Amino acid sequence: MPAPSTLLAPSILSADFTNLKHSLEIAEKAGADWIHCDIMDGNFVPNITFGPFIVQAIAACTPVIIDTHLMIAAPDRFIEDFVKAGSHQITVHQETCPHLHRTIQFIKSLGVKAGVSINPATPVSTLESILPDLDLVLLMTVNPGFGGQKFIPSSLGKIQQLHKMRMELNPQMVIAIDGGITEENAQAVVSAGADALIAGTAFFKSADPVKTASIIKAMTR
Ligand code: DX5
Ligand code: ZN
Repeated sequence: MPAPSTLLAPSILSADFTNLKHSLEIAEKAGADWIHCDIMDGNFVPNITFGPFIVQAIAACTPVIIDTHLMIAAPDRFIEDFVKAGSHQITVHQETCPHLHRTIQFIKSLGVKAGVSINPATPVSTLESILPDLDLVLLMTVNPGFGGQKFIPSSLGKIQQLHKMRMELNPQMVIAIDGGITEENAQAVVSAGADALIAGTAFFKSADPVKTASIIKAMTR
């Protein structure tokens, strides 16, 4: 069973991009376990963010684990670039990978952890065959593309289903939840089976990010 206490991954998407170093210092001070980097291509998702160059700058500023979430079509083209930039974990979307097993083995061959993400409309059952090979699953609880959206309540059932599946197939695998996480819904998400919570708005737009982090990290199943 992973993580006795809840892992917190602030999503840099909601940070102050005019002063990333300061945002990273806040995350570190708050005890962030991972820094979540959202990579968007304007194709798989309707928004564009940043590439390996910025991930490299982030990685150079912090010792915290860099968790890279690739919301891009045909991600195999860029995986190596994001590893070279300093990512410790790379997550691809199931919806973008026709040869998911090959992609996962490729990520692992580069010496980093491998994850798969699924959109709100993608069933958990589609992960069954790949689950034993994964270090983490990133379950989207909003439609990917933007920070600041509302958590989709039906996601709780998917988290429970995924938790049951991983206990049977890969108990060490981490379940990370991404989208609309708040201090208010964090307990329900953790009770359903989540180990790691990604929080963009709730963390970086909080009046007191250190306090928000301590509330979220204190959640136990
Ligand atoms: C959405 C991204 C999320 C986003 C979360 O496509 O994958 O990581 O930054 O932001 P909040 O916590 O504001 O929903
Ligand atoms: Zn994300």
